Amino acid sequence: RPNQVWDDALHKTVMGRFGWKAGQPNLNQQNVHAFSGDMGLTTSLRPFDDCTDTQTACKQAPNGNGPDGEPEVSDNILRLVLFYTRNLAVPARRDVNDEQVLAGKNLFFQAGCQSCHTPKYTTAANAAEPELANQVIRPYSDLLLHDMGDGLADNRTEFQASGRDWRTPPLWGIGLTQAVSGHTQFLHDGRARNLLEAVLWHGGEAQQAQQQVLSFNAEQRAALLAFLNSL
Ligand code: HEC
Repeated sequence: RPNQVWDDALHKTVMGRFGWKAGQPNLNQQNVHAFSGDMGLTTSLRPFDDCTDTQTACKQAPNGNGPDGEPEVSDNILRLVLFYTRNLAVPARRDVNDEQVLAGKNLFFQAGCQSCHTPKYTTAANAAEPELANQVIRPYSDLLLHDMGDGLADNRTEFQASGRDWRTPPLWGIGLTQAVSGHTQFLHDGRARNLLEAVLWHGGEAQQAQQQVLSFNAEQRAALLAFLNSL
């Protein structure tokens, strides 16, 4: 199901789209919150630092912290970062016609993974920018929240997402994690050391799919992983 979250610019509740719990309504606000929460940088949408009561230096810092202070990140930088993040390409798939990859693709569907990791969409005709309109994309996600069970729960709510709810992460590009990021840690807190561990942590609404993978033999598991690594 979708999350319903606060839009800082429109001052109203709208559908959540970005973040581990779909807690942000659009890419710009996701970027603004990353500047603020991850990097401690102020913007016109979030002009104040998250200072605790005892952080006196933080509270007294002038930059963007008062009516006279300019935000540390200008609106122009925000606009450029929005353009960049909006138009970042995903890597092309590899080994698409490999026999093992094709067998793994069948098993992905057989196990019911696609009920959340939805393979394919066509973007809307009225997209934010013409180059993003009418594009066939293959994110392998429904971008919706699912109850993933107690094993994955962080017991932290975010708007309508409970401590057990997570947004289905897109799987496109996941096979290049090692090459791009230099590790193979997966899931919201990086607890899975590889793709198979990530699948085996699935519980709640995904319990049945996880059980299917447990019933696969070694050859079938290898094929499923070859498919995931081709994304
Ligand atoms: C009920 C919905 C659902 C089903 C069914 C499902 N998944 Fe997921 N999947 C999720 C969610 C939600 C997460 C994120 C969980 C987290 O981070 O705690 C996830 C995470 C993952 C990840 C890790 C992604 C990352 O970037 O860390 C992989 C890989 C994955 N799923 C593969 C599969 C495969 C393969 C199947 C089928 C055997 C499957 N999933 C079935 C919802 C689902």
